[in-house]
Amino acid sequence: MRIGVYGGSFDPFHSGHLAMIKSALKSGIVDCVIAVPSVCNSFKRYTSILPAPYRYYMVKDTVESLGLKNVYTSDVEFGIEGVSYTVLTLKALTDRSYICKFLEDNGVKSKKASGEHTFFWLMGSDTLATFETWYKPGEILDYVTLLVAARPGDDTDIEACSRSIKKNLGGNIETFRLDGIECSSSGIVKEDDYELCPGPVREFIKTHALYTDNTKLEGISDEAKKQFFDFAVLMYKYLGEKRLLHTLNVGILSAHLAEVHGADKDKALIAGAIHDCAKELDIDEQRSLAREYAGDVFTEKKILHSPAGAAFAKKVMGIEDKDILDAICYHTTGRGGMTLLEKIVYVADKIEPSRTYTDLTDIRIAAEKDIDEALRMTVSAVRDKFVKQGRDIHPATQDLMRELGM
Ligand SMILES: [Fe+2]
Ligand SMILES: [Fe+2]
Repeated sequence: MRIGVYGGSFDPFHSGHLAMIKSALKSGIVDCVIAVPSVCNSFKRYTSILPAPYRYYMVKDTVESLGLKNVYTSDVEFGIEGVSYTVLTLKALTDRSYICKFLEDNGVKSKKASGEHTFFWLMGSDTLATFETWYKPGEILDYVTLLVAARPGDDTDIEACSRSIKKNLGGNIETFRLDGIECSSSGIVKEDDYELCPGPVREFIKTHALYTDNTKLEGISDEAKKQFFDFAVLMYKYLGEKRLLHTLNVGILSAHLAEVHGADKDKALIAGAIHDCAKELDIDEQRSLAREYAGDVFTEKKILHSPAGAAFAKKVMGIEDKDILDAICYHTTGRGGMTLLEKIVYVADKIEPSRTYTDLTDIRIAAEKDIDEALRMTVSAVRDKFVKQGRDIHPATQDLMRELGM
């Protein structure tokens, strides 16, 4: 197959990106296009970009819900250590065992998926002009033909750029005609106008409350931002889409609530973001991790992941901070004498933007003003649910209820 590879930050994924994909397919030069959301972009790392899982699922969900034929999304960069330079992405993606399995997993018939493949790197004409400054451009050309989008009225001299690249580095370059509107991700975010994003992208942004003041992570240290981005990538291996995005949302909301109520924002971001890190581990593994952190305090299956998460955070993520570990450990049950940080993570877990299990408007309003009131409302809702389901309330939660006068 002739495979077009389309790498980018997709922050957010917009109609211009869609036009690139559709025009490349229409040109007949490629049979399919694989979108590859960047995981660790060398230039944008930790500063003005959403953590990789948001952008990956934004593209994947959109491609799927629009039913785009012969368009796939690859998570190959999640497996690359450090900065995911294009040359490293292509090395991993064009690996025979990877690409054959990837295509088959995406519904390509086995005979076709395991046949011969040639690769094309989709790019705009503006990036062609800077190609020779990329990391190992010569090696990139060993993997792919550059497939350059030519927009009618484009003022880049594609011919001259191509001649220079061929002369200095060799390789092959082809062009295709790009039809569609011109727009940029940064322009969309700056204008705060998402009309140029496909419907499913707008829906995704709304569900997770992205590109808001909260997601800018203002006032968070670079160290905490780095951890947040790195842990998001690490947890991709351990959690499915819904839970991973939920746990990241809790981090972002916790940081915001910490700002409002005067708690440590860095700790709130990290504790919230990883609070559910152990939830999809094998139950026996959860049990043994839980015991490591909290002895036999937690035995019920549904709450094991909280102390197990604290142990996981310590062992796998290298978190030593007891405040963070305890906020993770008690996020399901709460306890008597909770710290402000623990209260914030507990409440944020129940009300982060993608939560829809009940009408949360009142608790969300309370959380902005009075965290103890929000905590009381949350615990009360949890108690009602437990009573309805005939479940025992954990002694730690009972302590908390007594303290709250419930
Ligand atoms: Fe949880
Ligand atoms: Fe959670």
